[in-house]
Amino acid sequence: MERVLVRDVISFIEEFAPPALAIEGDNTGLQVGEDLERPVKKIGVALDPSLEVIRRAVREGVDFLFTHHPLLKEGVRSFQGVIYKKLKILLSRDILLYSAHTNLDICEGGLNDALAELYRLENREYLFENGLGRVGIYQGGLEEILDITERYICENPTVVRGDVVKGKDTLKVAVLSGYGLSQRNIEYVSQVAEVYISGDLTHHSKILAEDLNLCVIDGGHYGTEVYGLRHFSEYLKELGIEVITLDF
Ligand SMILES: [Fe+2]
Repeated sequence: MERVLVRDVISFIEEFAPPALAIEGDNTGLQVGEDLERPVKKIGVALDPSLEVIRRAVREGVDFLFTHHPLLKEGVRSFQGVIYKKLKILLSRDILLYSAHTNLDICEGGLNDALAELYRLENREYLFENGLGRVGIYQGGLEEILDITERYICENPTVVRGDVVKGKDTLKVAVLSGYGLSQRNIEYVSQVAEVYISGDLTHHSKILAEDLNLCVIDGGHYGTEVYGLRHFSEYLKELGIEVITLDF
């Protein structure tokens, strides 16, 4: 078998999720490591670069760790506590860490498209101008949407039932992977859709959705992102080296 180098893995990822798609200020790309000419033996895929994921990567002999969420969101001024522990393991074991965040949400076939595909949304469009989220027509009623959600996204979704969906058999549905249920998003989505499936619903967002008569399904940050990540890890297998998942 031909050797697959770090640079090959990175170009393969970036062919799928071009970094140029990432929203401004996002942290995407190589997070830890620099030797692009090194051969890769085993890729580990995870949603989060948590301490447990990093420890599992060591146990499983992973030398290239891919995560959706980056290691650091904001600038840090010192490496202490959890971040120290994570870096110490990654550096001492020479494990590369690469993240594709909003570019993987936005890209064709990425996390949002995977959700739109799951719900078979027709006449799909971007939910937001920056490419995040999808909105389209679902041929069917709310109960069917809930069935799909419970089967593939999350066993116990939190549901805000708006009257607007009652008795309808065609629905305008918006999906957004991860943290999508902010008050600002709910306000906007209530103008373009009847049902909004996303994650991280807070108390205030729930009340706002009720007030705006928007049907909201909180499938969880984890559930709404891991669904598409599974598809992405299947894509990585086309590289011809071993790919394992570490937190889903
Ligand atoms: Fe996320």
